[in-house]
Amino acid sequence: MAALKLAVLISGRGSNLQALIDACAGRDFPATVALVVSNNPQAQGLARAGACGIPTAVIERRDHGDRDAFDQALTEAIGAHDADLVCLAGFMSILGADFVARWRGRLINIHPSLLPEFPGLDTHARVLVAGVRTTGCTVHYVTAEVDAGPVIIQQSVPVEANDTPETLAARVLAAEHQIYPQAVRLIAEDRTT
Ligand code: GAR
Repeated sequence: MAALKLAVLISGRGSNLQALIDACAGRDFPATVALVVSNNPQAQGLARAGACGIPTAVIERRDHGDRDAFDQALTEAIGAHDADLVCLAGFMSILGADFVARWRGRLINIHPSLLPEFPGLDTHARVLVAGVRTTGCTVHYVTAEVDAGPVIIQQSVPVEANDTPETLAARVLAAEHQIYPQAVRLIAEDRTT
């Protein structure tokens, strides 16, 4: 079976992008990163992609009149690289309904909680305020509702008594780096159901 071609969309650090790049470099991993798109020209992840010779594109929301035009520019970049699967990896711009519908079933996201618990931003601070003992991370298909589509894979992570949002984020991030490549493999091997 041909390797899945990934388009990875980022806005910042790109550590999940790095986990995908590293996985794709492994023998027999059924995917390659065909393109990295950032909506932020300063994103550290762009340098990670560049260091590996992966094509990059910067598509800024402010350069496009409305969200449909922004989404269209994203679609054109992704299409130009024949990507089969769009992976949101810390992409902090909400995508329009038309984009989500166009890529439905081929558009996935990673979120730093055990969805449906704690959708949205500032996840780890809210987890600590809620006082739960376990949190985690989720890779899911993207649907029109933010952080709500069908779950592909989750990993739970303990909350420690003296955690700060930063220490908890670091523990969850390590789990994210494990499950994002696993989710891509499940999709590539048609084993998500
Ligand atoms: C990750 O923790 C990811 O789960 C989160 O942003 C971080 C990006 O880090 N995404 C969201 O909160 C989306 N709702 P990275 O740029 O190092 O991969």
